[in-house]
Amino acid sequence: MKISWILDKLIPSSSKGSLILAASVALCLSIPGTAARAGDGDLSRETAACLKCHDKAGLEKKLENQEMLSLHVSTKAFVESMHSKSDCEDCHSNIESKTHGKEKAVIKSKREYSLSMQESCRDCHKKNFAKYEDSLHAALVKDGSKEGRKDAPLCADCHAVHTLHSVKIVEPIAATPCAACHEEIFKAYSRDVHGLERVAKGKTAPICSDCHKSHDVKAASLGDGIKDSCLSCHKNTVIVHKDWLPNAALHFEAISCPVCHVPTAKRRVNLRLYDNAGKRQVSEKTGVPLFDKRTDAADLQNVGLDERALLSLLREFNQGGVPGNTVLRGRLELRSGIEAHQLAEKSRAIKDCDTCHKVGAEAFQSVSLTIAGPDGRPLRHGVQKEVLSSLQATESVRGFYAIGSTRIKLLDYALILVFLAGVGGPLAHMTVKWLFRRVREKHVAEIRAEVAQGQSQAFPGDRPANDDASK
Ligand code: HEC
Ligand code: HEC
Ligand code: HEC
Ligand code: HEC
Ligand code: HEC
Ligand code: HEC
Ligand code: HEC
Ligand code: HEC
Ligand code: HEC
Repeated sequence: MKISWILDKLIPSSSKGSLILAASVALCLSIPGTAARAGDGDLSRETAACLKCHDKAGLEKKLENQEMLSLHVSTKAFVESMHSKSDCEDCHSNIESKTHGKEKAVIKSKREYSLSMQESCRDCHKKNFAKYEDSLHAALVKDGSKEGRKDAPLCADCHAVHTLHSVKIVEPIAATPCAACHEEIFKAYSRDVHGLERVAKGKTAPICSDCHKSHDVKAASLGDGIKDSCLSCHKNTVIVHKDWLPNAALHFEAISCPVCHVPTAKRRVNLRLYDNAGKRQVSEKTGVPLFDKRTDAADLQNVGLDERALLSLLREFNQGGVPGNTVLRGRLELRSGIEAHQLAEKSRAIKDCDTCHKVGAEAFQSVSLTIAGPDGRPLRHGVQKEVLSSLQATESVRGFYAIGSTRIKLLDYALILVFLAGVGGPLAHMTVKWLFRRVREKHVAEIRAEVAQGQSQAFPGDRPANDDASK
């Protein structure tokens, strides 16, 4: 007879429960060769003793901030959980047996209690703990609770520790822990191609953690993490796009996938401050409001940075380091993080070159400059859209010139020539590349001469080899 069954049946309801519990514990201890534990799924004497008091529905405690903390732990759920082989005291090592339950403990709030328990996971889950500590969520936790911002998750916010099931069990999508805090994004996701596919067919389609990871969650627009996860499932993506899109790899680098796959969304150009030597986005140092200060000072009227301001800002960021190390890398992305989760079926994806490669294209009407903030999330400042089409700025926004969308006519001829010639297939791609590179090189040389004349402080250095458009 299983002790857990007895506990389950009798403890919650029966007033004689304690007698029977004592008897069961005695029975358990009397079996030779077993210590306090009888077998799989059964409880140690100490744990059973805790549950004797705690498996009472409605048991709760009023905290200092008037929140009610439920103290009920269901024996049945605990025995069935992944932690059934752990004892309460493995995690609750600070329970003082003499006074516990008799003297009232002071607990300020649920959040404070959760924070005080967080460390208990470290011993047995070192790897996940380390990954989590490297995450944006952990950085937000360290930063403390802030007015107007939801608290970021601790282990126990995503894992119900007393009733835990194996993560291998496929749950309904609404059970993903992410949904509780990112409601709007979850709603969008649940109706997009992946959400619908996941409901229909299960695990093959991604849920939040497949694209963002679960423990080392990073800011979404930082680095290539998300793109890499798309490509890990959609393995032939580059080949599929190459059929119609010249230099697909460059387009993928410069355009976030949802830009084409969420046809109705609003887009923008994000100029990311990028450290060429370190090969990563420039990040703001913790606690120093450098970026805000500099951009605010350079844009007193708050109408967006103009090309001069942008240039002098870049110069400032390059000071003290190797000149030319800090560059701007353009990227087309969506303006709304919610819309990034409205991926449509492929027939609706944007294929028309004109969406981007024409004067006044919508995507190029909103421009911002970003640096990675202390937690990795971007800090933004608006930039005047004219910067993209100015000759002087071509040098600072190097690597981001979308044919036709801006008014640099000389460069546009390359594309127009190809279209006039009407060549198709691979020949067209090669021709575009060849013509485009020739013209661009000439153009950049002209600007450089101009800049060298005008300002001896201009930015030396080519578009780096690894960033070459012909790659
Ligand atoms: C005699 C009954 C009893 C037993 C046995 C008991 N508890 Fe409690 N427990 C309580 C009561 C009553 C409270 C509420 C105390 C208060 O108001 O501060 C409580 C509170 C708690 C809390 C809330 C936080 C805190 O520290 O006050 C935790 C966690 C807890 N118990 C865990 C345990 C564990 C683990 C065991 C076994 C080692 C255990 N309890 C054994 C009665 C008991
Ligand atoms: C794997 C670690 C772990 C084990 C095992 C564990 N607990 Fe907990 N317990 C926690 C954590 C973490 C919290 C804080 C939960 C939160 O932040 O919401 C907690 C909270 C509690 C609370 C406060 C109310 C609540 O649910 O938040 C009680 C009471 C409690 N545990 C009792 C027990 C008892 C009784 C056992 C054994 C049957 C047990 N715990 C086993 C980790 C554990
Ligand atoms: C005393 C060691 C111990 C502590 C402390 C502990 N765990 Fe566990 N945890 C385990 C064991 C053992 C398993 C079961 C692993 C298995 O069977 O694969 C487990 C499983 C899990 C799983 C499910 C893994 C899966 O494969 O589905 C999660 C999630 C988890 N623990 C989270 C936590 C959290 C959160 C904490 C801190 C509140 C915590 N654990 C503290 C020992 C521990
Ligand atoms: C933002 C939500 C979230 C937070 C915070 C979180 N987890 Fe998880 N965890 C998940 C999800 C989702 C899964 C299942 C998917 C997966 O395996 O990546 C998971 C899986 C696990 C697993 C089982 C799979 C494995 O990798 O072994 C363990 C153990 C675990 N988490 C422990 C922890 C611990 C310990 C912490 C705190 C340091 C923690 N988790 C914090 C969401 C979270
Ligand atoms: C198919 C992959 C994928 C899935 C599944 C997914 N996301 Fe995203 N998520 C993205 C992409 C792509 C972005 C936009 C990144 C960029 O700037 O290019 C993003 C952005 C975000 C952001 C940042 C929003 C902002 O305002 O900047 C959050 C938060 C987020 N996702 C949470 C979630 C949550 C929660 C879920 C599950 C309900 C989820 N994501 C599911 C790919 C995914
Ligand atoms: C307890 C609440 C909570 C849970 C649970 C939670 N998050 Fe978050 N998350 C936050 C908060 C707060 C922020 C910072 C504010 C924001 O960006 O919404 C954040 C930020 C993010 C960001 C960065 C947004 C950006 O600007 O790039 C991503 C990505 C993200 N979460 C993904 C997830 C994923 C994936 C899960 C589930 C595995 C998850 N979150 C679970 C509270 C939560
Ligand atoms: C310039 C716009 C554009 C960009 C950028 C883009 N796509 Fe596409 N994608 C399309 C179009 C258009 C189709 C439909 C092609 C067709 O039907 O021939 C498509 C098709 C697909 C398909 C279906 C492939 C199949 O098997 O038929 C997947 C999956 C896909 N894209 C993923 C991605 C991913 C992942 C990224 C980012 C790395 C991305 N796309 C970037 C426009 C784009
Ligand atoms: C865990 C694997 C996985 C990840 C990660 C993933 N997808 Fe998917 N995706 C699927 C599956 C499965 C389908 C539905 C079956 C299909 O159409 O291929 C799908 C469908 C699609 C479709 C619709 C294709 C069509 O035929 O209409 C697009 C577009 C798409 N994904 C783009 C993306 C983008 C963009 C990302 C990254 C932001 C991404 N996927 C990440 C598995 C994944
Ligand atoms: C969603 C917007 C978008 C769409 C749609 C798009 N492009 Fe582009 N394209 C860009 C951007 C942005 C760049 C600039 C990339 C850079 O310089 O970093 C670019 C660059 C190019 C280049 C220069 C590549 C090189 O080797 O330097 C060519 C050629 C080109 N696109 C042709 C096309 C053609 C042809 C189509 C339609 C089949 C198309 N593009 C569709 C945004 C787009």
